[in-house]
Amino acid sequence: MIDVRRIVNRLLGRKAVVSKTSESRETWAAVAQDGEFQFHKNDTWRKTPDFMNQTDRLLRHFGFTPEQYAGKVVVDVGAGSMLRTRFFTDAHLVVVEPLADRFLAEIPACDLKDAAEVYSRPAEELIDGLVGRADLVISINVLDHCFDFAEIVRNIREYLAPDGLAFLTFDMHDKADHMHPLSLTEKTCKPIFDKAGFTIEKLTTGVGDVLGGSPTYGHGPFTLNYWLRRA
Ligand SMILES: C[S@@+](CC[C@H](N)C(=O)[O-])C[C@H]1O[C@@H](n2cnc3c(N)ncnc32)[C@H](O)[C@@H]1O
Repeated sequence: MIDVRRIVNRLLGRKAVVSKTSESRETWAAVAQDGEFQFHKNDTWRKTPDFMNQTDRLLRHFGFTPEQYAGKVVVDVGAGSMLRTRFFTDAHLVVVEPLADRFLAEIPACDLKDAAEVYSRPAEELIDGLVGRADLVISINVLDHCFDFAEIVRNIREYLAPDGLAFLTFDMHDKADHMHPLSLTEKTCKPIFDKAGFTIEKLTTGVGDVLGGSPTYGHGPFTLNYWLRRA
């Protein structure tokens, strides 16, 4: 099929903005996940108190407070090897993290075992037992690392309790790379949220001065931060 936008951009000498919301699962598994595992295994910073101090600043920046989900179900999508959602005191923490089993087996400091439920599966796979249960689904610096954004958004919508909140924060960047197979922009995310049955309650960019003045988790010009409710 002819890509008119690309041709027009080339004729005008403009750099085309390529936005990719899906990638092959095989490439993701072989390249991105392997790189991700090595990163977490070798990361020493997450094991220092500064990790939870930064998490505290980050989540408060987004308006969360520690006691807010006490007794409630919080689903941490792409939790990584150390639980940022420990911030939520007395919450029923659920982890959806494809590397969870490997992290638990090979990283001694990994604290995912402290979650009430751990699913070592990609967020693109629907977990039946989570449907309709989540008071909060939260995902921090994950969604551009995945392989099918629309599938994940549909699943997150399924997990929410009727009055639940989905909070998704990730780097906006217009180019994908091996470790970030998806390049998500405001323009590509909006129709996917609409189609999944979400209302965008709030959208902000950047993280204030939490990350030492950087507006991203590491890539692109800024983060996109979405507060979503069931439409
Ligand atoms: C940069 S780390 C962020 C970890 C954690 N949220 C944090 O802020 O410390 C990205 C995480 O996303 C996970 N991830 C990658 N692809 C995923 C997928 N398809 N479904 C769920 N998580 C995924 C990776 O395994 C990795 O642990």
